[in-house]
Amino acid sequence: MIALQNTPYFPQDPVEPKYFVGRDDIISALKSAFESAIKGRAANAAIYGERGMGKTSLLIKLKTLPPPGCFVVYCPLSSESNEKEFMDRLLQKIDLDYRESLPIHKSIIEKIKDFPEKVESFSLFELSLSIKKGEVDAYRAFLESLLKLRKRGFKGAYILIDEADLLTTETLALIRNGIQEIRSIYGFPVGIIAAGKQRLTKRLGGKWSPLARFFALMETELKPLNEKEAFEALTIPHVDWKKDAARHVFERSSGYPTVIQLYGAVCYLRRSSGVITKELVKKVDNEIKEELWQWFQNSWVDSPSDLEAKCIVAVAKHGTSATYSQVQKIFKKVPAPYLKRAAEKHILSQDERGVYTLPHRLIAEMFIEKYGKTS
Ligand SMILES: Nc1ncnc2c1ncn2[C@@H]1O[C@H](COP(=O)(O)OP(=O)(O)OP(=O)(O)O)[C@@H](O)[C@H]1O
Ligand SMILES: [Mg+2]
Repeated sequence: MIALQNTPYFPQDPVEPKYFVGRDDIISALKSAFESAIKGRAANAAIYGERGMGKTSLLIKLKTLPPPGCFVVYCPLSSESNEKEFMDRLLQKIDLDYRESLPIHKSIIEKIKDFPEKVESFSLFELSLSIKKGEVDAYRAFLESLLKLRKRGFKGAYILIDEADLLTTETLALIRNGIQEIRSIYGFPVGIIAAGKQRLTKRLGGKWSPLARFFALMETELKPLNEKEAFEALTIPHVDWKKDAARHVFERSSGYPTVIQLYGAVCYLRRSSGVITKELVKKVDNEIKEELWQWFQNSWVDSPSDLEAKCIVAVAKHGTSATYSQVQKIFKKVPAPYLKRAAEKHILSQDERGVYTLPHRLIAEMFIEKYGKTS
């Protein structure tokens, strides 16, 4: 593994907001959604995208964009969350983010004259405790926490949920009911922005199911970055990326933000001057592939058996994706059980149309290099 932490790039972490590139359409749509909230109306949005496509980076960027008076909380989940667990997480994050965002909102919320405490002393700790003791249920805690924000002087609020795939359907229903009540009965505009790997509309029973319509009327898929954005992501002060060097990164990465950041970091470490040339980038190609390969292997549940590996090589020979019959033509046995096991081991993914996909073309190349000879 390469020691990547001391570079001005972000191959292993969400990108810092000031280095965030692209996603202009969704950013401007959500920025105006924040503006509308302080004028009385909030909307919801769902964002989905493959692993490493930039969902977390986008939510963290969004957190820096609300106008004064629109409270935004970033709530990442780390394991499957029922109503109580979700509320517990949310209340803690509201407390933390309240303090962190005070500089943005202070001038607005200080104007609330009849509030007994100082602006700094806002806390939902008591409410958290009441849920834990079973004195308050999750639904009531949800309403109370939002009403407390309103009372504190906020004009609207947005809840950004990361890893939203981990919300149970019951929790999604609680959120919907709570938000509908808070919007229509209490007149407080609250919106949800949920990001995950899975399309919410699909999971919630299609475009017209009531839950899907509530959460995902505005649904966006994050795609790879384009060439201009890739160039911007590489460009940092004091380092001069030659255009053809950046183009090579764009071609090799296919615009995948993780791979672009990895190229940035490795080229930065291996440079001998402030200029990054195409020769340098080509020199690190193999190092990048090996590093990605190691990350990828770490995400496997288990290594592939010989026959599974041969089956995956058949997918890799088509680039990153292949249909069942394409695999069958190359792989002489019936591929179904091998593909199924490879998917269970998280080595490739299978969609509902029966297309098998590896996470990146460099990974496909590595599969052929590592396992191709025996097939
Ligand atoms: N808009 C962007 N500009 C520059 N770099 C980005 C951008 N979006 C993502 N990245 C980089 O891509 C990588 C993956 O980003 P991030 O963690 O946000 O993706 P993710 O979709 O949340 O991934 P996961 O599915 O693993 O949660 C990181 O290295 C990050 O720095
Ligand atoms: Mg993420």
